[in-house]
Amino acid sequence: MNKQLAQQRVIQLRNQIEDLRYRYHVLDDPAVTDDVYDSLSRELREIETQFPELIDLNSSFNRVAGKPLDKFVKVQHEVPMLSLNDAFSLAEVKAWDQRIRKLLPASAQFEYFCELKLDGLAVSLIYENGIFIRGATRGDGKIGEDITQNLRTINSIPLKLRGNKVPKRAEVRGEAIMRKVVLEQLNKIQLANNKPPFANTRNAAAGSLRQLDPALSASRKLDFCGWDILLNNPKSKLHSEEHELMRQFGFKVDKHEKRCKTLEEVALYIEEIGRLRDSFPYGTDGIVISVNQTELHSRLGFVGKAPRYMVAYKYPAERATTKVLEIRTNVGRTGVLTPFAVFEPTLVAGSTISKATLHNLDQIRRLDVRVGDTVVIQKAGDVIPEVVEVLPKMRTGKESVFQMPKVCPVCDAPVKQKGVGEKVAAKKGKNTVAYYCINPHCPAKSQRGLEHFVNALDIYTIGPKVIARFKDEGLISDAADLFSLVEGDISGLERFGEKSAENIIKSIQDHSHVSLARFIYSLGIVNVGEQTSEDLAAHFGTLEAIQSASPEAINAVENIGPVVARSVHDYFQHKENQKFIKKLINNGVIIEKPKKRLAGKFTGKTFVLTGTLDTLSRDEAKSKIKELGGKMTESVSKNIDYIIVGSEPGSKYEKGKKLGVTILEESEFLQLLK
Ligand code: IVH
Repeated sequence: MNKQLAQQRVIQLRNQIEDLRYRYHVLDDPAVTDDVYDSLSRELREIETQFPELIDLNSSFNRVAGKPLDKFVKVQHEVPMLSLNDAFSLAEVKAWDQRIRKLLPASAQFEYFCELKLDGLAVSLIYENGIFIRGATRGDGKIGEDITQNLRTINSIPLKLRGNKVPKRAEVRGEAIMRKVVLEQLNKIQLANNKPPFANTRNAAAGSLRQLDPALSASRKLDFCGWDILLNNPKSKLHSEEHELMRQFGFKVDKHEKRCKTLEEVALYIEEIGRLRDSFPYGTDGIVISVNQTELHSRLGFVGKAPRYMVAYKYPAERATTKVLEIRTNVGRTGVLTPFAVFEPTLVAGSTISKATLHNLDQIRRLDVRVGDTVVIQKAGDVIPEVVEVLPKMRTGKESVFQMPKVCPVCDAPVKQKGVGEKVAAKKGKNTVAYYCINPHCPAKSQRGLEHFVNALDIYTIGPKVIARFKDEGLISDAADLFSLVEGDISGLERFGEKSAENIIKSIQDHSHVSLARFIYSLGIVNVGEQTSEDLAAHFGTLEAIQSASPEAINAVENIGPVVARSVHDYFQHKENQKFIKKLINNGVIIEKPKKRLAGKFTGKTFVLTGTLDTLSRDEAKSKIKELGGKMTESVSKNIDYIIVGSEPGSKYEKGKKLGVTILEESEFLQLLK
């Protein structure tokens, strides 16, 4: 290719890629599958390698993270970034309304504009002649820090404004946010590395943007939503128009906004969002209510550091205080003891909480939680309850420091600290804090291991109580024994009739054919969740290949790091585990050959399943969709293609209907599969 042709092609590729990025990251409405995007990117990368002079650093394609910085440079905001006054109830919103009405002439007419108060970090983005030139944190409102490098890696931030009427200079302000699912994944990694988990999406977003290494910041997959735009002129008449303007320039602006004529409408909006916000992908801690007519803003002015024309309604606290009565430990399937606090039962965010995990001893020391302490607990949405902080001033002196038990709370075997004296940990200089029960036959381990196994294989007829009973009766000692059970073993037990015996045996047998990924997952290997199991299965193809892989070979699998690789390798090295796997297979567990993916029918299509199907389990439905090239996901957005609705569907159904997603009844889905 000569340079002229290359140049033409580069421009076309860049425009196409930019459009696709915009559809995917800003509109949440992908136009093509990832492979198409990747293929275009690859071609562009190849041409740019051949003709480096054609590289455009401001093209969306060039978001690659730059070199780590030594420190952040301070920048001054031209217009200070203020804060908002809070209203903690509707009465306080009313009081705000009365205060501002007193300051305006009786003839002043205005409406309210309501938008989400996103739980992230405020940032400012400066554009000159349409090009993103600088991004900064809010800092103290006057002086922030230059985090341009990090912000450039956020895919929903345009590096160039869209449209042909770009202003000479524009400042867009908004919230850098982390999706809840991203936070969950990040916290799993934090804990696996013995680092404290982030308490919420705001802390996580802030922590991620304060990384001096932009590659690290990029790995945190942040997002950005605009909430204000500052232009020299002309000033929009309505704040709602400013939102429109940001959208036109290519910014993501949250869609749950509303113009309200009356305070009653505002109250309804607050209530509606209150009901929906748990299901939003982002954390939302309140509603920002403003006077929509911007000409009234200067009349209303400011109180302290906050504008009078805006107020932040905050949803009721999801935190409460309570007293720690006891700290106990649970033994997990890998034998690790997990401490948890027992409280005086306390109401938080609508439910009563009496226990919360403390994760590990390191976390207890970090928080300095003692038995008898008054602590702040948190329960946000469907997040598991946790202790956020201790109130040391509430101490009486009678509090006692927790020590890990010396013996297992279940089997009395000695408890050892993991990592101590072990080569792996010592080499890395890591302070590993896990304590575990050394008894390989600890009943708690095998109980949890069995619970995990039946869940992994969807054997729903067997719950924790049934497992415990079977173990007590000596019917099973491990998961492999399940496959040699016969009806007569169970039907004779008190409270188990013939019918239930038949159901149990049938469901065990029905689930004895498993995919390789499921099989690996069911083993309960430390640090190996569903995704890792799938990655391992896809990479190695057979159980034998995984069993004989070196730690290096496992580490070479995409998304798998050295800790997980070591853990997988160790598991398969253990004689006991080898015996267990053999026993599973001898007793009738069959690992299915990976099915070839058929491209075509469902390629590029995304499904969500809600409720229970009569004829298929969730995983069966998932693998059928996968076989036909489709994808199944958990969250409903307008990007998904179908919602399969079983009996007793959840809120996903309503949400999907609202968004106009195609709804499939079970029969219609089965028809499609044919
Ligand atoms: S407007 C004068 N709109 O809340 C300040 N702020 O408490 C104008 N925030 O620092 C702020 N979502 O980080 C505004 N839709 C939204 C917001 C929002 C989140 C944050 C922002 C700000 C803080 C003020």
